[in-house]
Amino acid sequence: MDRVYHLKLDKEATRGAMFAFLPGDPDRVLKIAQAFDPDSREIARNREFRTLMGNLQGEPVLVTSTGIGGPSTAIAVEELARLGVRVFLRVGTSGAIQGGVRVGETVITAAAVRLDGASLDYAPIEYPAVADYDILTSLVGSARELKIPFHVGITASTDTFYAGQGRRFSRYMIQRLNGSMEAWQKLGVLSYEMEASTLLTFCCAHGLKGGCITGVAVNRLEEQMVREELLDVAEKRAISIATKAMEKLVVSFKEL
Ligand code: URA
Repeated sequence: MDRVYHLKLDKEATRGAMFAFLPGDPDRVLKIAQAFDPDSREIARNREFRTLMGNLQGEPVLVTSTGIGGPSTAIAVEELARLGVRVFLRVGTSGAIQGGVRVGETVITAAAVRLDGASLDYAPIEYPAVADYDILTSLVGSARELKIPFHVGITASTDTFYAGQGRRFSRYMIQRLNGSMEAWQKLGVLSYEMEASTLLTFCCAHGLKGGCITGVAVNRLEEQMVREELLDVAEKRAISIATKAMEKLVVSFKEL
């Protein structure tokens, strides 16, 4: 098989890898890869897509950045799936919309509200974007073992960071988005982010395993914007849980 167009990878480079971490940020790729394999190395880079390859319990594991939002996430996930990846774990950040979900804590996505457009290319809107059960339980077990605060529930994936998440630019905001944050809050949604619904819909629709953990970067009941100095803890905690969870998934896969 030829090299996939955007990720600039082929099957020789990915060495049959079936597992991939998916951060949004190309800089987070290195942090995740270093957390499970200090000898991991970069195997491709193009636009927002950067891929490192490491070894976890004897298995090749990829870390590929998706960029921000559904369209670029769809490209990354589709191309990885074409190369043979079967288990996808997003590791990102989100903005909490519940009072009890604090900055620095983590949110494990059980299902995502499909506010994105990209997932409509995979399944009609009635179809749920649900996390894979094995990934979900692995993330929860790992968070418990590491004693890191976590919340499990519904996250909402938007196409826009500002309007879609209720951040106004001026007085005018389209009617559909006016008061939308309060509505999702009343419906028990834990946080906003921008990639989970595309990933989970694609995985559910194609019989692949998808999951998502995010570090809480801001609590929207207190502040509008993320404060960079608070990001570090949230990111480190999400990475610790994700790498432990992936290790469990790799081990259980090898025992099959
Ligand atoms: N990511 C988002 O999409 N929204 C936030 O508020 C924080 C991180």
